[in-house]
Amino acid sequence: MAGFERGATKELSCDGVSLLRIAREVGTPAYVYSRALIEENFRRFDDAFASVPHLVCYAMKANGSLAIVKALAALGAGVDVVSGGELRAAMECGIPAERIVFSGVGKTDKEILLGAELQILAFNAESERELAKIDEIAGSLGRTARVALRVNPDIDSGSHPYIATGLKHNKFGIDLGTARRLFAQADRFAHVRFTGIQAHIGSQIFEPAPLAQTARELAALARELAAAGTPLETLDLGGGVGVGETEEKSLSPEAYAAAVLPEVSGTSLRLLIEPGRSIVARAGALLTRVLYLKESLGRHFVVTDAAMNDLLRPALYSASHPIEPVVPRGEPFTADIVGPVCESGDFFVRDGVIDRPDEGDLLAIRNVGAYGFAMSSNYNFRPRTVEVLVENGAFRVTRRRESYEDMVRLERE
Ligand code: LLP
Repeated sequence: MAGFERGATKELSCDGVSLLRIAREVGTPAYVYSRALIEENFRRFDDAFASVPHLVCYAMKANGSLAIVKALAALGAGVDVVSGGELRAAMECGIPAERIVFSGVGKTDKEILLGAELQILAFNAESERELAKIDEIAGSLGRTARVALRVNPDIDSGSHPYIATGLKHNKFGIDLGTARRLFAQADRFAHVRFTGIQAHIGSQIFEPAPLAQTARELAALARELAAAGTPLETLDLGGGVGVGETEEKSLSPEAYAAAVLPEVSGTSLRLLIEPGRSIVARAGALLTRVLYLKESLGRHFVVTDAAMNDLLRPALYSASHPIEPVVPRGEPFTADIVGPVCESGDFFVRDGVIDRPDEGDLLAIRNVGAYGFAMSSNYNFRPRTVEVLVENGAFRVTRRRESYEDMVRLERE
């Protein structure tokens, strides 16, 4: 198994590369990724869907590191992008336009223009107005844009409310009735070719049932449209496959495929899936050093050099990420692990039973390869961290740590 492991010495390492050494050479905090595990995760999705025509479109919002997107491009991945920036980055990483789908409720004219010029695989359109915009912009280029309608099936994904997207009160997608009407009025949009339907009902989904139900509803709509003379080419199931604290507590690509494939059988459409987190989450760890141990009225605090600006998920979604000493000391105690930012929301764990560290010890915050660095910021004028990719038994810096000069470069006094 690729990824983070403890060898005979009990020291946590990444694909045989010492995390102590990485931290010594690049400093902390530092995001470290296992290329082998990212590739393995991608291949598991690709293999799980091998029985049908398909394309795995990695949702690059989860981790847009160019080195990672390039590695996936080399394996034949497509991508799901949500901005002009991601679209440009994907192209720069060698993802061909015919493997790119473009999602999002608020695409700007400029973004639509770029996608139409590049002739991407599909715009996943989320409203009637957006559809009209795509039609107009593609028309101005003398092109026809390929469009999938993102439908909102009103299905409960069981996710945290901030990342549930498939309920009717969410801003995402088009209700089924409106979608049917728009497909029936395809002639109104002369520069649009309806090629598919898409849904993404949420993120961190651990139960296969809502994902299977979504697939069933999309397939039913596709069959209905084919019977009505609007055959589609693609059926896009979105992403959302849940990643738990351990591999066993996660929804596996194989279990996901086993749940959705029977629902779409017989449609002969090309299946698109947009996993983000499940490709990269477990392949990333955030290394941080203990700055201080502090005790106050019987409570223990471990103050680290990483903070909520480096990893926002615990503060924003109450997400729990296992935190482990790189070299264990074997003496558990109960403590809060917190960062230096001036907010009480700046914690990684509260009342956690952890191995009692010493000042200067190295900790690894696990499963943060997705939406970790991607959501980091310069809050408190803190530079964004270095990113390191472990590959072939060695490591390289794929994004250097920001300097003070980087942070002020765009300012004008
Ligand atoms: N496709 C669409 C249209 C999406 O909106 C998303 C994620 C995905 C695919 C990928 O979902 P995944 O497989 O990664 O669950 N920042 C949050 C997650 C936001 C997800 C937004 N959309 C977090 O840290 O949990």
